Amino acid sequence: MSPSPAGETPLVLVEDLEVHFPVRKGLFGRTTDVVRAVDGVSFTLGRGRTLALVGESGSGKSTTGYAVMGMERPTGGRVAIDGIDRATMTDAQAREATRRMQIVFQDPASALNPRMRVGDCIAEPLRIHGIGTRASRADRVAELLELVGLSPGAATRLPRDFSGGQRQRVVIARALALEPEVIVCDEAVSALDVSIQSQILNLLLALQERLGLAYLFISHDLSVVRHIADDIAVMQHGRIVEAGPVDTVFAAPSSPYTRALIDAVPRLERATRVG
Ligand SMILES: Nc1ncnc2c1ncn2[C@@H]1O[C@H](COP(=O)(O)OP(=O)(O)O)[C@@H](O)[C@H]1O
Ligand SMILES: [Mg+2]
Repeated sequence: MSPSPAGETPLVLVEDLEVHFPVRKGLFGRTTDVVRAVDGVSFTLGRGRTLALVGESGSGKSTTGYAVMGMERPTGGRVAIDGIDRATMTDAQAREATRRMQIVFQDPASALNPRMRVGDCIAEPLRIHGIGTRASRADRVAELLELVGLSPGAATRLPRDFSGGQRQRVVIARALALEPEVIVCDEAVSALDVSIQSQILNLLLALQERLGLAYLFISHDLSVVRHIADDIAVMQHGRIVEAGPVDTVFAAPSSPYTRALIDAVPRLERATRVG
């Protein structure tokens, strides 16, 4: 998908990825079965691009995202970041990959420490990586707040002072602190009201334009994906059943599963594109 220009190494390469989980079965858990959460998935994600992974709950989207992040170890295949295989990375390379890739989850409330001021939440990754002084970190926090559309005064407040959409902006600001190149958005707008969803999607698009970010955008909701993705990969039972440019897939889905997912999008939403 979105084949990178000849000779250019993709930012993220996923090749024949398998993540199988052993699960205990039977009365005494003696026999084991295998859940093939991800079962032969391949794709590339180029700089500044958005690839949407869509599919029903349980299709293997999050597990794929975790493997890309290095949070889940593949049982087969490989993940390479900028041409370097995750399995053979030195500690230093793995640390650098961790800095370059961030993940944003569905629920901003659980992603933020309720007792920590918003400014400290955003500065935390910088502090952990020993970057800057207290004063320079405060400047960076102000910059990041501005970037996500929050006022500088937000820094001294607590997460509970904000709405769900604003909290997700805080989470995004923190994800941007270490200047990543890739953000995995795992159902990042799924918990928000539709009007707030489109505001956050527009923010993600603006940030991509400004910072050249690449998104691996995971969602069960095709109406959301259509607005933000360049390319789309449809997952079912741990496999990609269809992939291509988003407009092509929406206009003429080749798999009946994709067709069914598109038909499940309420007509009204299909008619009125977000934004
Ligand atoms: N740690 C785990 N152990 C066993 N099964 C798992 C584990 N993580 C995920 N699964 C299973 O793998 C499948 C894919 O899960 P997931 O990647 O979370 O799907 P999605 O994000 O598309 O909803 C599901 O059947 C899920 O129950
Ligand atoms: Mg998931």
